[in-house]
Amino acid sequence: WRPDDDDERARRGASGPVKVRVPAKINLHLGVGPLRPDGYHELNTIYHAIALHDELTARRGDTLTLTMEGEGTGELALDEENLVIRAARALAEHVGVPAHARLHLRKQIPLAAGLAGGSADAAAALVACDTLWGTNLSRDQLALIAADLGSDVPFLLYGGTALGTGRGEAVSPVLARPTTWHWVVAVADGGISTPVAFRELDRLRADGAAPPPLTAAEGLLAALRQRDPAVLAENLGNDLQVAALSLRPALAATLKAGEAAGALAGMVSGSGPTCVFLAADGPSANRIAAELEAAGVCRAARTATGAVPGARVI
Ligand code: C5P
Repeated sequence: WRPDDDDERARRGASGPVKVRVPAKINLHLGVGPLRPDGYHELNTIYHAIALHDELTARRGDTLTLTMEGEGTGELALDEENLVIRAARALAEHVGVPAHARLHLRKQIPLAAGLAGGSADAAAALVACDTLWGTNLSRDQLALIAADLGSDVPFLLYGGTALGTGRGEAVSPVLARPTTWHWVVAVADGGISTPVAFRELDRLRADGAAPPPLTAAEGLLAALRQRDPAVLAENLGNDLQVAALSLRPALAATLKAGEAAGALAGMVSGSGPTCVFLAADGPSANRIAAELEAAGVCRAARTATGAVPGARVI
C-alpha cells in the first residue's frame, strides 16, 4: 500500500455520500432438501425482491463505523458481528483497501422476519463501499464475496426474480416478461431465528410430521410465465412454513385472516414469522392490508409490489 495508490483510489472513489437502496426478499417457492454435512440444507428456491427497502449511506471516514435508525434500532448490535460491518471488511480485504467508511442504515425491513433484511443490508454495504472506494467490482465479483456472508446475500445484489440453488447462494435470473405482482406483507411481533426454523423442520420430518418436500419449481416457473395471479397463487409453496407454524401456531390465524380478506393465497415468508399474501391487483392489496390490521392478527400490514431491482446506488 503506497501513498500514491491511496491518492489514486481517492480520486477514483466517490467524494460525496453514496446512498444505496436494497429490497427485502420473499420466496415464491422454497424447497428444502436434506441437511448437508456442512450444516446447511440443499435448497431449490425462487427468490423474489419486493418493494420494501432498507437504505444504507456510506461516507468517507478514518475508521469503520455504523449507525442506524428505524426497524430494530436498539436491538441490532452495531459491532463487528453486524453483517454490514462484516461485508465492508470482506470487500476491503478482497480489494486491498483500508476499511474506512462511516455507514448509516435506515431500516424498514424487520429483523429475523424471513425477509432477509440482514442479508439485504450486507448486499447494500458491498455496493455502497465498492462505489465509495472506487473499486468498481462487477455484480458477479461482489456475489462471490456475498456468498461467504450469507446464503441470501448474492440474490439481493441482483434482485428481480431468480432461481437459487446450493444453499441458496447460486443465483440465476428467471427470464420472464416483467410483470408486477401485488403483495401484502403481514409483519409479526418478534422474530424467528433461521437456524431454529431449519432445525424444527428437520425434527418434524424425522417425526413424520411434515408434508413431503416440494419438488422442483417447474410449476411455479410456468405460472410466472402465464402472468396470471390466480395461477401463481396455486403454485406458491414453502417447505419451512410447517416449521414456522409449529414454532408460532398463531400464524395460522394470520394466514386465515388474509385469505378471508380476499388474498388469492397466503404463505409464510422464508423462515417466518412474516406472512405474505398475493393480491389480484393494487386496490385489492390495500383492502387486504387494512383488514389484516383491523383483525389484529399482525403487528403491521403493508403492501409491496415485486419484482424490484437489487441493491443499487440512488
Ligand atoms: O447462510 P446464512 O448464514 O444466512 O444461514 C443461517 C443459518 O440458516 C445457517 O447457519 C443454517 O443453520 C441455516 N441454513 C440452512 N440451510 C440453508 C441456509 C441456511 O440450514 N440453505
